[in-house]
Amino acid sequence: MKWTNENGFDWCEVIDIDSFVGKLLQPDLRPGKWSGDDIRRAMGIYTKENRRHDDQRRGVTLNHKDLVGSAGLSPGISISFQPILPGEKLAFHRHNYVAIYYWIEGEGYTANDDEGIDRHETRVYWKAGDVTTSPAWVNHAHVCTSEKPAMQMAIHDFPELCYKRAMLSEDPDGHENLRHMVKGVVPSFNNLDTVEDLEKRSQKFEAVTAE
Ligand SMILES: [Fe+2]
Repeated sequence: MKWTNENGFDWCEVIDIDSFVGKLLQPDLRPGKWSGDDIRRAMGIYTKENRRHDDQRRGVTLNHKDLVGSAGLSPGISISFQPILPGEKLAFHRHNYVAIYYWIEGEGYTANDDEGIDRHETRVYWKAGDVTTSPAWVNHAHVCTSEKPAMQMAIHDFPELCYKRAMLSEDPDGHENLRHMVKGVVPSFNNLDTVEDLEKRSQKFEAVTAE
């Protein structure tokens, strides 16, 4: 971030409490629904050929259009869905938001390990119906071992950390990829992405649940 004190600090003000509260109050949110049909249709675009970088993740996130100044399902929480195709080993990465996973379909494991994917003692094996977690700043990678794709629902406090300008990410794994997740530093959660990548991304998806 570039800044200078040469013209003072005209972004810093002292205000009365009533004005302060007026700025804090947010528009209320309407109750929502995101249909399973829409989510499954979105999953259909992630074929073997349509991946992010070779071993990176992909998926869709539920967004509430009433949210102002943030994104996600609720101001502090996001819910994302990700398919992992048979045999896929996704890339190790870590972030300072927690990941809570509900495994809807398939079978596999998550390696939670700074040392790599081969150590069996740090794997968390899962199958449909299980809930697993990768706590904040634990390096993790998912592997699908079933013949059918695995489907993951992930609950994150990603939006809350971004809103606080406090989100840190190493994605993919490696200190050279450590980033403060704010505008102007990274265009995406994945440090391999460029702005041009995002513009021509074939994985873009948008659907509004109609009924
Ligand atoms: Fe993650």
